[in-house]
Amino acid sequence: MSPLHVTRTLPEDATDAALRADVLHGLTATPKWLPPKWFYDARGSELFEQITQLPEYYPTRAEREILADRSGEIAAASGACTLVELGSGSSEKTRYLIDALPLAAYVPVDVSESALTQAGQALVGERPDLHVHALIADFTAPLDLPATPGPRLVAFLGGTIGNLLPVERARFLASVRTLLAPGDGLLLGTDLVKDERVLVRAYDDAAGVTAAFNKNVLAVVDRELGADFDPDAFDHVALWDAEREWIEMRLRSRTAQTVKVPALDLAVDFAAGEELRTEVSAKFRKEGVTAELAAVGLELTHWWTDAQDRFALSLSVAR
Ligand code: SAH
Ligand code: AVI
Repeated sequence: MSPLHVTRTLPEDATDAALRADVLHGLTATPKWLPPKWFYDARGSELFEQITQLPEYYPTRAEREILADRSGEIAAASGACTLVELGSGSSEKTRYLIDALPLAAYVPVDVSESALTQAGQALVGERPDLHVHALIADFTAPLDLPATPGPRLVAFLGGTIGNLLPVERARFLASVRTLLAPGDGLLLGTDLVKDERVLVRAYDDAAGVTAAFNKNVLAVVDRELGADFDPDAFDHVALWDAEREWIEMRLRSRTAQTVKVPALDLAVDFAAGEELRTEVSAKFRKEGVTAELAAVGLELTHWWTDAQDRFALSLSVAR
């Protein structure tokens, strides 16, 4: 069995510096915000996995349906020998691709070390022929990928691209394009615009798992920066922004309160009812996805949806 290779492209203290910078910037801005990548410590990654099982959260099931039905077509169109997966998490749905593609190497990339190593260990156990090289890295920063055989397929599943703001998304796609040689592909999962009630329910489930996931970012800031956020002093909010076509998750302060962040020598005042934005989750239309890909030199060649047209998987090719 080939061992699991794990590379940390960011030193531990760089992650710490990035969290400090994001918290300082976000909590002193108006309105206040925090970037969603800080949800995913071991507990946050576990809560996300629970979200994927919720009756209200359809994107994982819809994308799995497409992968189960279309992985053969994806393999025939791409013929990739290396699969790079950004924000791979548990790599659970990816199994369909790993089984269908003529792969020599799989390169999962994630900020969550716990998710990466669990998924990687399981895979090397099951597929001794496959070289698994996991990268602990921020996919919004330039990536230094290992030298592996081409053609290369970069997969970005789950609709995670929707968690980037439009300006970040354009920058991100341009940087993904630099990872692709002519003929290499991008397999992109995008959640689609749909009925507002279905969307809001998916981000405000009855069991409160998404609320716990949202509040987990406060626990991360408490643990890493010694802050005294009380998660119970905030309410989970999920709302649909019809103009921007995204779900926004926020944490609403129940009372007027001051939160201390000793590592930053910071005291943050919240008014009663004041909201902290923790995530956007943009929803897409085919024309928009095609245009954003074309803007970075990627030609959309395939567009697959689930039977209920809730979610799309697109394949685009670098020319
Ligand atoms: N692809 C999986 C997981 C989606 S959850 C699925 O479809 O189910 C989003 C994943 O992206 C998490 O594992 C999280 O740790 C990772 N992630 C979020 N922001 C990231 C960033 N900036 N860089 C690298 N990984 C990130
Ligand atoms: C990872 N990402 C695509 C999820 C989403 O649907 O935007 C994160 C999530 N946030 C709340 N529920 C799930």
